[in-house]
Amino acid sequence: MQLLQQTAPGELERQWVEEYGTVTRISSFAGQPAFLVSDPRALQYVMNEKVDKFPKGKDIDVFGMALIGQGLTVVSGQAHLRQRRILTPAFSTSMTRAWAELFQDHGEKMVGKIKTQIEEDSSIDILKWTTKLALDALGLSLFRHHFGAIDGADVPITREIQNALHVAATETGIFDLMVAMLAIHLPKSAAKWLAQAPTAASRALNKYRRFSYKFAAEVMKAALNNPKNEQKDDVVGLLTSSSHAVDKEQRLQMDEVLAQMSTFLLAGQETTASSQAVLAYMIATHPADQQRLRAEVQAMYAKKPLNEPLAPADYDKLPFLNAVIKENLRLYTTVHTMTRQVVANEIIPVAYPVTLEDGSKTSTIPVKKGDRLLLSLQTYNRLPSVWGEDAAEWNPNRFLDGRPIDSNIGLFGNVMTFSSGVRGCLGWKFAIIELQVTTALLVKNFELSAIPTERMKLLTSNFFLIPGVEGKEEEGSQVRLRCKTID
Ligand code: HEM
Repeated sequence: MQLLQQTAPGELERQWVEEYGTVTRISSFAGQPAFLVSDPRALQYVMNEKVDKFPKGKDIDVFGMALIGQGLTVVSGQAHLRQRRILTPAFSTSMTRAWAELFQDHGEKMVGKIKTQIEEDSSIDILKWTTKLALDALGLSLFRHHFGAIDGADVPITREIQNALHVAATETGIFDLMVAMLAIHLPKSAAKWLAQAPTAASRALNKYRRFSYKFAAEVMKAALNNPKNEQKDDVVGLLTSSSHAVDKEQRLQMDEVLAQMSTFLLAGQETTASSQAVLAYMIATHPADQQRLRAEVQAMYAKKPLNEPLAPADYDKLPFLNAVIKENLRLYTTVHTMTRQVVANEIIPVAYPVTLEDGSKTSTIPVKKGDRLLLSLQTYNRLPSVWGEDAAEWNPNRFLDGRPIDSNIGLFGNVMTFSSGVRGCLGWKFAIIELQVTTALLVKNFELSAIPTERMKLLTSNFFLIPGVEGKEEEGSQVRLRCKTID
């Protein structure tokens, strides 16, 4: 409860690390034992080496089932491996060129719209724009569907996502906790029934699922009517062919197909949009870094024929751009904590010795069947032992100054924001290219600065970080800054 009620997200976890070390024993629901884990070796053990021993908790199954159904983020074991194997080709490196072109087109469209908006008022909520961009990018590259959000279309699915996430993040009440406790103690098969419990959170989650399934069913109907669709390795192509595959290992039931589309909309929109918006704020508040970034991007454009967009290989040759993206992902850990359940007694190794109640130190942590693990990705991302004494500060140069980074986990730059291992983010390359293209376009076209009277504040929530404005927390998610067109 203390963790959920803190007003500065991550602060309590940081204090515990200082006092006890990178694994802390706490009590979870109704005194159930739990461990807060931010140690790199322990995270690697749980997420990469012994994944089967530490599945997602049964309480997470209930909320996930209500929100998405049998989607990739919810299912476990063989079903998860099968779904992941089927969908992985849609996120391979060979797709990156097409994504980059699409993000470039839509990013430029967004830049044009922002230019028109700031003719009247230079203060904007950049999150509104990055949310529209993220939705249009997902729609076209994954579903071959044009949402038209940047063009001003009202897209109700975005509202439903925001509502479901907001309610789940901030309005889970005593009844939801009771449902979660029941889930932990009842067999896994009860998750489907508990997901229908009439609580506020459950109602909001179920509403998003119904809404997104309706959208997904329309997209799939159009795809199934067009035999050419099966020939492509994008998400719709793979889902189309797997929906009538004969081989059981390649086959997805229609409910699973709809659940994947619901998953991608949810997993890919808010995460990328808020990362991008926070990144824009960080460079707005660090003008020297912004200037350095702009110079690097302009130099790369100068090497290309006029009006030719940058390709994925060009973005990879921009060291400061990539350092800024890594630093932003490190400091702004979208999904700040993930839970896992211990299914059999285990001994978890740690990289940094942990202090026990009697004051002695240990480098192994025994855990028992039924214990919960709270994997604190945000605390790991700010550990001074991994990142140096300036771990809490913005310093993209840490990725370029040759300092040793005492860890080897995560999917990008040793940062854990995309999680790790076989349950790590499937869309991380998609997200990185979107961040590269959009950041480059923003600094090329605008001078960004802070609004002197407003400061960004990360708002408290159960699972993820929501950027808002200090003193205007009740207005919800927004990232406000000033934008001036560069002629
Ligand atoms: C900055 C943007 C993003 C961040 C920070 C992020 C973060 C994460 C994290 C932490 C997980 C693990 C969640 C868990 O185990 O409970 C995850 C899983 C996942 N993400 Fe992302 N994500 C991002 C963008 C995307 C995008 C753009 C897509 C799709 C286009 C995507 C698709 C997925 C999927 C399908 C999973 C489930 C993987 C599995 O369980 O096998 N994500 N993401």
